[in-house]
Amino acid sequence: MSLLSTSEPGVGKTNFLFRCIACGHIGDTAGQDFRCAGCGDLLEITYPDWQDTRPDAAQLKSRWRDRKLSANLVDLSGVWRFRDLLPSLDADEQVISLREGNTPVYELTRCARITGVPRLFAKHQGLNPTGSFKDTGMTVAATFARRAGFRWVACASTGNTSASMAAYAARGGMRSLVLVPDGKISWSKLSQALDYGAVTCQLRTDFDGCLRLLQELVRRAPVYQLNSINPFRLEGQKTLAIELLEQLNWEPPDHIIVPGGNLGNSSAIGKALLEMHGLGLISRLPKLSVIQAEGANALVRTLREGKGKHLISVAAETRATAIRIGNPASWKKAAHVLEATGGACEQVSELEIALAKAEIGAEGIGCEPASAVTLAGLKKLLKQGFVKPDETVVLVLTGNLLKDPDFTIEFHRGEMFPENAQEDSALKALRHPPIVLEATMDAVLRTLERAEHS
Ligand code: F0G
Repeated sequence: MSLLSTSEPGVGKTNFLFRCIACGHIGDTAGQDFRCAGCGDLLEITYPDWQDTRPDAAQLKSRWRDRKLSANLVDLSGVWRFRDLLPSLDADEQVISLREGNTPVYELTRCARITGVPRLFAKHQGLNPTGSFKDTGMTVAATFARRAGFRWVACASTGNTSASMAAYAARGGMRSLVLVPDGKISWSKLSQALDYGAVTCQLRTDFDGCLRLLQELVRRAPVYQLNSINPFRLEGQKTLAIELLEQLNWEPPDHIIVPGGNLGNSSAIGKALLEMHGLGLISRLPKLSVIQAEGANALVRTLREGKGKHLISVAAETRATAIRIGNPASWKKAAHVLEATGGACEQVSELEIALAKAEIGAEGIGCEPASAVTLAGLKKLLKQGFVKPDETVVLVLTGNLLKDPDFTIEFHRGEMFPENAQEDSALKALRHPPIVLEATMDAVLRTLERAEHS
């Protein structure tokens, strides 16, 4: 059964084709698993027209600027505003949108002092409608799921994909099926899927087990998979980079640093950078670097030990549950964009993640643990000399602080890392535990005084 054809009867001419990332085969249909029928590798979306009639960079920039003044739903979306670089829809087709994108770039002044990098910024994708970067991909993939006539969409998830998918399915009038590892995702994320009406299955396995099961399921049942294997997801997620460059006045930063889990997001950002460079929207490529947790470091090992030729899977374990993934599906796409942009791949410890998260929080910004690997990774890349202090660096914060309150509370209460006595001063300085007091003025005043002198 063909899942989606770019040349279906009744569907207007579209601007894209599917290309296999390994054998290069190009076709106008994709199967249920979004894999090449010939060699089995992943598909990506390509825009053949760009070769003959390259969109004009200056025109694109001014069109995107003009759309900021429009009140149309597609223009209010920080994803569809850039639709010239996305798979096209028919003129009268509705998108499923929650006004995703439009996320801020913050200057990280406190972290700049800590790291010694004065030009340090954060692109905060945690300020998307469901609290993570997944919304930028979901608006596109959910729209194409509905267009292909699917009643059911499904995903395997460490939490954020499921929250986002459930929301967009609900907005688009579709049902959603969520497969999550039992006990290994935060309650906040699980509660989102429940509230948005998903059929939520907590499977007694890990994320990789959930994804394997989903692959089998889509072959047997008419459900449309919305994991980042789905190339429409990555097209939407590209807009993170387009919007970022627009916010930086099209002056590319030297480095963009992103967390790596299933490696869809790094692949999407890298694809956007290469496309923008190819179209003349930017004059040089930022280096895109991926940071993983030490306990979920499949890409790090694949590049170091496997020379990027074959995937080295790991049994993943980290408190940053969003990236607790041992068998990343998009590793080849990510390896390609790292090489093409000259980026690095590093790993950071649980302690480094927790410290970095608290440091970002102390700026009044906050993020979930998986996002904080970026700051922890930057510190390592600086030590190695890969990032220079006078360079411009953008960290991609992928999820909202409120996504994982248990982690934050455990950290501040001092329940995390009880064994790390030698690191105590760094930990202590960042901890702000809640204080239980008698309800008297005296007790509060004394606490205030103590805090003033600490
Ligand atoms: N940061 C957060 C907050 C995430 O939720 C994820 C992935 C990542 C980073 C890694 O991105 O997989 O594209 O490399 N979360 C997925 C999920 C897997 O199911 O929510 P990636």
